[in-house]
Amino acid sequence: MARTWIDLCASDDVPARGGRFVEAASRRLAVFRLATGDFRVLDDVCPHAGGSLSAGYVADDCVICPWHGWPFDVHSGRCPDNSEVGVTTYPSRVVAGRVECRLDG
Ligand code: FES
Repeated sequence: MARTWIDLCASDDVPARGGRFVEAASRRLAVFRLATGDFRVLDDVCPHAGGSLSAGYVADDCVICPWHGWPFDVHSGRCPDNSEVGVTTYPSRVVAGRVECRLDG
């Protein structure tokens, strides 16, 4: 079965080491640009108290929630301080200046 890539936003609309909120397929997503220039897509809602991760920033390989500072690994979505906590991450790519992701794994 072919994988479905979903268009999220222009790569230029994502600030360096920052995030951008996107709603796609009824999901709240956060698109981040890493220091390397790579992009990552995670669920936007922080599992601690619902903060919007897209309003946070990238430090090392973690997204930092803007509300209380919980970190989430940009690759695994896991919180390095508590392995029981995490957010879903999605495969992503950039095509012709547009960030796309797959929601189907
Ligand atoms: S809501 Fe994200 S750390 Fe509290």
